[in-house]
Amino acid sequence: MFTGHNSKFWDDRYSQSDYAFGTEPNQFLTTQQSLLKPGMKTLVVGDGEGRNGVWLAQQGLDVLSVDLSPIGLEKMQALADRKQVQLQTQCADLTNWEWTEAAYDLVVSIYVHFDSDVRQRMHRSMLYSLKPGGLIILEGFNPEQLQYQREYASGGPNNPAMLFDPEMLRQDFAGGEILELVETITELHEGKSHNGKAAVIRLVLKKS
Ligand SMILES: C[S@@+](CC[C@H](N)C(=O)[O-])C[C@H]1O[C@@H](n2cnc3c(N)ncnc32)[C@H](O)[C@@H]1O
Repeated sequence: MFTGHNSKFWDDRYSQSDYAFGTEPNQFLTTQQSLLKPGMKTLVVGDGEGRNGVWLAQQGLDVLSVDLSPIGLEKMQALADRKQVQLQTQCADLTNWEWTEAAYDLVVSIYVHFDSDVRQRMHRSMLYSLKPGGLIILEGFNPEQLQYQREYASGGPNNPAMLFDPEMLRQDFAGGEILELVETITELHEGKSHNGKAAVIRLVLKKS
């Protein structure tokens, strides 16, 4: 069963010449554009091949993208070069990372499903690393995705313990002000890996 934080799994996935999740940003992230201001110090966790970090850099944000896949990071840099933007990248396992307190205006987490034994610690670390007033934008899959991933190529972990539900996210990010928390069925067109109907959960949260 897929466990999530294994760099070989992701290196293998990213070894194809195309981009596993495409090169266009996540659609939910783009709907939050009005919250984004040039110069915002931004941490993109598990940014994979960089489609979201690169798009945020194109909006003028000051981006650090972290991922544990060296191959993903090479492709991220290639995408940034192609789009003629700069972003900082770091190859690290976030479960062992030294999170800095109150360092970021924005943390973005798109489809980063940690193992259940570390998930809450990771989500709390994201909140810890935000400045007061800073924002988290997160999209992940909810448990209904187990059904959709069998019918469509829309992806996501097949381990139910790794999927997100609203109460779990409320507890993980307790202390933050929820600006938006919705579950919805959507249609993903994100490379070969996320294609078709999918059950997602979306969160926008402000650190008090
Ligand atoms: C489903 S992919 C999503 C990639 C990217 N966020 C996107 O939407 O295109 C999940 C990513 O999280 C990264 N990841 C998973 N566990 C991680 C960890 N412990 N530390 C750093 N990155 C991790 C993987 O390497 C992978 O690139």
